[in-house]
Amino acid sequence: MLLDLLKKRCSVRKFLEKDIPKETINYILEAGRLSPSGGNEQPWKFGVITDKGLIKEISKLAYNQKWIETANLLIVLCTTIVSDERGGRDIQMARFPKLKNKIKEMDKELYSKLNQEEHQTKIPGTHMVLAALEHGIGSTWISYFKVDELSKLLNLPKNYIPSEIIAFGYPAKEMKPVKKKSIDEILFYNKKLFKQ
Ligand SMILES: Cc1cc2nc3c(=O)[nH]c(=O)nc-3n(C[C@H](O)[C@H](O)[C@H](O)COP(=O)(O)O)c2cc1C
Repeated sequence: MLLDLLKKRCSVRKFLEKDIPKETINYILEAGRLSPSGGNEQPWKFGVITDKGLIKEISKLAYNQKWIETANLLIVLCTTIVSDERGGRDIQMARFPKLKNKIKEMDKELYSKLNQEEHQTKIPGTHMVLAALEHGIGSTWISYFKVDELSKLLNLPKNYIPSEIIAFGYPAKEMKPVKKKSIDEILFYNKKLFKQ
């Protein structure tokens, strides 16, 4: 059951030296492929990194998060920049009408980097994390890394922006989920009156 899986999940930062079978990697990737996206644009590419040397290089670019070196698989979730018109700038102008003119005038490169629709890659990433856990594989999300340097290292085309990396592997120790807020702390119903 999905909730059982979610209750088990926690970030894993130490992995066993044990390769993930190819079929399992394919299962994880398939879970990502089937994700929803705005306008079904699927504005993403998934980089599959299994080369240990490359994993080490990436751990350096992630501000020396040494634990990443123990991962057996990294999936680099990249956002592909969607056009300014469809799914891009026009959508944000519609979502924030008061800021319409400011959004319109923003420099193209800056706009693309800030509005890289990275929220969209969180969806396939979440599917992948759960698909991996079904196979006893732990993971941790990584967004603390030097984006431009990673693009360079992986020879990525200009319109691919690495938004997150997920490190996968078999957990080296027992997984201990951390405490989450209670349901009462995170809900509001209908038009609850908020004190300003
Ligand atoms: C988008 C995102 C980025 C994250 N980036 C990092 C990271 O760079 N390094 C790291 O050690 N953990 C990272 N984490 C893991 C969080 O620290 C972790 O999810 C959080 O503390 C909650 O713990 P849990 O995953 O065990 O529930 C990231 C998590 C998310 C969702």
